[in-house]
Amino acid sequence: MNVRQARAQDLLGMQNCNLHNLPENYQLKYYLYHIATWPQLSFVAEDDKGRIIGYVLAKMDEEPSDALHGHITSLSVMRKYRRLGIAEKLMRLSQRAMAEAFNAQYVSLHVRRGNIAALNLYRDNLKFSVHEIEAGYYADGEDAYAMRLDLRK
Ligand SMILES: CC(C)(COP(=O)(O)OP(=O)(O)OC[C@H]1O[C@@H](n2cnc3c(N)ncnc32)[C@H](O)[C@@H]1OP(=O)(O)O)[C@@H](O)C(=O)NCCC(=O)NCCS
Repeated sequence: MNVRQARAQDLLGMQNCNLHNLPENYQLKYYLYHIATWPQLSFVAEDDKGRIIGYVLAKMDEEPSDALHGHITSLSVMRKYRRLGIAEKLMRLSQRAMAEAFNAQYVSLHVRRGNIAALNLYRDNLKFSVHEIEAGYYADGEDAYAMRLDLRK
């Protein structure tokens, strides 16, 4: 297994992984937009045959009124490869690149209130905190925790 920066050739593999693991799905052009605009920020994990088994898709937020910050658009790891530290590694690589390449002040993300695995990862392992609760954020009505991690330390 190998973890590295995502490339344009990985787009289909990333989309496939996303479709297997999350109800929030995106058109290929949205993946391409991330990789073309912020190539430093998205990472993949591949198995020994080069198949994508995990990814983090990330960007810099483009809202001019806010402090400069990164945003995690999507993160997932194929079921068979979970609990091996892959997601944590992908997140740490993206966070570091946000700070080093773009001088990001913090990183933000949304997570479902009921997503215990992801919440534990963000809160306990990576030390994110809940910035606010966005009621009914997801298409099925579930609330989101909007979480943030300060990257300036
Ligand atoms: C959430 C997800 C990305 C975690 O991926 P992973 O590679 O298994 O995570 P890691 O092995 O890096 O785990 C890091 C920490 O996350 C937490 N965690 C991960 N899976 C967990 C589970 N099933 N139950 C409870 N905590 C869990 C733990 O704190 C874990 O640390 P530990 O193993 O030292 O206890 C993965 O479960 C997944 O793809 N889920 C479906 C998609 C998803 O929910 N994405 C996030 C959307 S916001």
